[in-house]
Amino acid sequence: MTAPRTPSLVTTPEELRAALADGGRVGLVPTMGYLHEGHARLIERARAESDTVVVSVFVNPRQFGPREDLSRYPRDLTRDLGVAGAAGADLLFHPGVEVMYPPGYATNVTVGGVSEPLEGSSRPGHFDGVATVVLKLLGLVGPDRAYFGEKDWQQLAVVRRMVRDLNVPAQIVGVPTVREASGLALSSRNSYLTPEGQERAAVLSRALRAVQAAASRGERDTARLRQAGLDVLAGEPEVSLDYLTVVGGDMAERERVENDPMTRVLVAARMFGVRLIDNLPLWPDLPRQAGGEGT
Ligand code: PAF
Repeated sequence: MTAPRTPSLVTTPEELRAALADGGRVGLVPTMGYLHEGHARLIERARAESDTVVVSVFVNPRQFGPREDLSRYPRDLTRDLGVAGAAGADLLFHPGVEVMYPPGYATNVTVGGVSEPLEGSSRPGHFDGVATVVLKLLGLVGPDRAYFGEKDWQQLAVVRRMVRDLNVPAQIVGVPTVREASGLALSSRNSYLTPEGQERAAVLSRALRAVQAAASRGERDTARLRQAGLDVLAGEPEVSLDYLTVVGGDMAERERVENDPMTRVLVAARMFGVRLIDNLPLWPDLPRQAGGEGT
């Protein structure tokens, strides 16, 4: 257990630079705030592997579409300081929009390939916004390692691709999803759901598990694997499905799946007006590739 501390709050690149002088090995946990247990796991992992742990809290307008939830995205900086401190953060970087995107700002980062299907096609421009802000945060903090949740599996693939392509000298670490007892993946957006809605949203993880179970029985046909998940979702009338798919590390679907640790089943659906995503490895017991979680 890490001793709780109160992280120093910094809001400008200058303050950040001063606070990080002689910071040793730096771990960065980029977030949009409203921190939950899943974020706490990322911060604890960073704490275990770093001398200085920076948590960034920035609700990045560039990754929200015009009809998405930017203005109502949950925010609570006081609580964030508490959660970050209890998990072992030293610094909380909370820049304003004008600090990240000052007048005249004109640069956009587009990652090809892995960013295009799934979330990329349902949320045009989303991954440009993510890649742009993550590259800026990596530039501002200069961490040895940066930590991302596996719940956003495609985001993790996009960030890894960008870091590799642009020779960013930071190691990207993926951390497993934290779940409610019901199976529901933790997400700041769960706060939009009532307790009953949260219980019912656990159907998404049950669908993923049904696909996993079919794979463990030896099913290799992607259509039949999908069907195992769709059968579960059919029992919940609130599910408005965007996609349920089985993909490799390149985010592409194949007709038949291989026994590969990067093969993953992904789901996105709207329930009670909230867009939720989740994913699981198809074969959870297969060891990950050397170098970790590489896509
Ligand atoms: O996963 C998130 O919370 C965000 O997409 C991230 C990585 C902090 C970039 O804004």
